[in-house]
Amino acid sequence: MPSPVPQPVVASLTRASVFLVVAVNAGPECNAAVRALCNDLAALLRAVSFRDLDGRLSCVMGFGSDAWDRLFGAPRPKELHPFREIRGRHHAVATPGDILFHIRATRMDLCFELAAQIMSRLGNAVSALDEVHGFKFFDDRDLLGFVDGTENPVDQAALDATIIGEEDAAFAGGSYVIVQKYLHDLKAWNGLPVEQQERIVGRTKLSDIELDDTVKASFAHNVLTSVVEDGKQLEIVRDNMPFGEVGKGEFGTYFIGYARSPRRIERMLENMFVGQPPGNYDRLLDFSRAVTGTLFFVPSATFLDDVSTQASPPSGAAPNADPREPRDPSRPRGSSPDGSLGIGSLKRETGHE
Ligand code: HEM
Repeated sequence: MPSPVPQPVVASLTRASVFLVVAVNAGPECNAAVRALCNDLAALLRAVSFRDLDGRLSCVMGFGSDAWDRLFGAPRPKELHPFREIRGRHHAVATPGDILFHIRATRMDLCFELAAQIMSRLGNAVSALDEVHGFKFFDDRDLLGFVDGTENPVDQAALDATIIGEEDAAFAGGSYVIVQKYLHDLKAWNGLPVEQQERIVGRTKLSDIELDDTVKASFAHNVLTSVVEDGKQLEIVRDNMPFGEVGKGEFGTYFIGYARSPRRIERMLENMFVGQPPGNYDRLLDFSRAVTGTLFFVPSATFLDDVSTQASPPSGAAPNADPREPRDPSRPRGSSPDGSLGIGSLKRETGHE
């Protein structure tokens, strides 16, 4: 059997994105509508992205822990659990969310259109909980003025950091994602001398060069988020986006981090919010408040393509059977009548072919 094709979690960074978190409403018909969308997502994506083939439109669909049980039942991804709040020097809140749509493109109109098509398809089956339209700021900077994303792994290293392999064979090709919406106190931040801001981030502001270890503070953001295990740095792939509403004085960063295990992102968060050692926390948080926090599992594109619209688990109980029955038992899981994987642009974006 061919290996499952991942969703485009490592799609190259783009200028625009929509982060849409929804709750699935109660009732078997709502579950059925979501399951039907799992099948249709690739076709919707194909239709919208065809309007600008250079637009690099992509969409990742992730599921929260409770929603997984309702929609798919057993088996479940080994490390899927609700986001765990952290109360340290600062508070990482946990907020609800059944499904995340992370939509990226070079143009906001493509993202907007796909989000609109998805929501129209889902109709009353879901209620939107949070929607953020992110944009890239000058030179890929966040609204704090620093270039954000430089140390992201790329190519094979990005796949190694994010895509589940043999450690959870039933869900190989999947990934985990944590999102947090941060609001900045820009007035206070901009009141800091640039040298102090650079000590907090651990890089120079204008030229984006990493500070030398001899001068880097132990609380620098890039020190606290560098997690080493067995001599190896545990990497994640981030695609943070600025957002805001100037009239409301709202200036934010939408943090999104993908990893093959949520544990590595959680360790970074503990270092940031509690400190390493405790008390040596991330000073970015004195100027940035997390107002959401949710964890999702991102199944492979092959899994989404194979979700059957009928085999929804009975409400309140997780079935023992694998709910992902191929729609046509005569063809193998992950293939479509034309012999392709039938997941259109999702497939094309992964670079796994
Ligand atoms: C207010 C929210 C945040 C802002 C504004 C922010 C900004 C930045 C900036 C400017 C950098 C340096 C450039 C780069 O390598 O990208 C960076 C690096 C990094 N950030 Fe964040 N970040 C935020 C939240 C987070 C969170 C919540 C995590 C993880 C849980 C995280 C993980 C990382 C990692 C792993 C690096 C690379 C460190 C290295 O290897 O040098 N960030 N971030």
